[in-house]
Amino acid sequence: MKHLLSTRDLDRDTAIDLLDVALDMAATQQREVKKLPTLRGRTVVNLFFEDSTRTRISFEAAAKRLSADVINFAAKGSSVEKGESLQDTAQTLEAIGADGIVLRHPASGAAAVLAGSGWIRASVVNAGDGTHEHPTQALLDAFTLRNRIHGDAARGKGLDGVRVLIVGDILHSRVARSNVWLLTTLGAEVALIGPRTLLPFGVEEWPVTVGDDLDSAIAAAPDAVMMLRVQRERMADAFFPSTREYSANWGLTGARFRRLPESTVVMHPGPMNRGFEISSEAADSPRSTVLEQVANGVSVRMAALYLTLAGGDR
Ligand code: NCD
Repeated sequence: MKHLLSTRDLDRDTAIDLLDVALDMAATQQREVKKLPTLRGRTVVNLFFEDSTRTRISFEAAAKRLSADVINFAAKGSSVEKGESLQDTAQTLEAIGADGIVLRHPASGAAAVLAGSGWIRASVVNAGDGTHEHPTQALLDAFTLRNRIHGDAARGKGLDGVRVLIVGDILHSRVARSNVWLLTTLGAEVALIGPRTLLPFGVEEWPVTVGDDLDSAIAAAPDAVMMLRVQRERMADAFFPSTREYSANWGLTGARFRRLPESTVVMHPGPMNRGFEISSEAADSPRSTVLEQVANGVSVRMAALYLTLAGGDR
């Protein structure tokens, strides 16, 4: 695998292989010495044109645990603010000798443009492009869910028949898109719930069911509920009347959480708006995988960097 740009173009075998390599990586993270020599002498650049906490730290930890040299490049305070283009930035990184570029960019399609541009020889890993995709987030979500459902027998398995509810601001969510493609490829049944104004145009053509009634979706006892952050920074208009109304209709309140079966997994990619889309009761419960998702993110990104930078045609 040369690049990791989206989950839409991952086939089932490749996706399961990636999750299995992540399991191997996770096993190495239980050791006292967590560092592997795999990417010694290679340079990975974290090229972030958008704010990020978990994703950037997670990629940095992943690359360092594989012994790569890591350069963190945040667009704020760099020549990008002086109007330098993605092309010039990429060519600078090529000249420095980057082997891998982890790109987060506000424009949908930016990672694919960079990978197909001919400006660089490096592998490109998409760390979020606009509202389009965030493949490593979906992979870490699938990894977390697979572990919760199959436990020690997870290796080699998909998510066949697992019913996942994705709730909230689907319109602006690259996390939702990447999850829709990956989870359905792995055999899961995905339902999207949110206010009609926050469901994307053309969603009827996605391999999912769609609705706006969270209470009846919860009554159907899903295996997992994935809450999404309301992405105010991507909203120029008012998409819902008030935060109170949003929480009342689409928030995972304490009352809704208590109606879910004991076995339902509660997920959130972070950053969370506590008390808005998710209550602390749900977020901090043993059924919540929020911190497990963060921890698993490192193993999944180690797998992604390993397969793109050292994995050849695997
Ligand atoms: C997500 C993102 O940036 O797309 N966060 C993340 O990577 N963990 C989701 C979000 O910002 O709400």
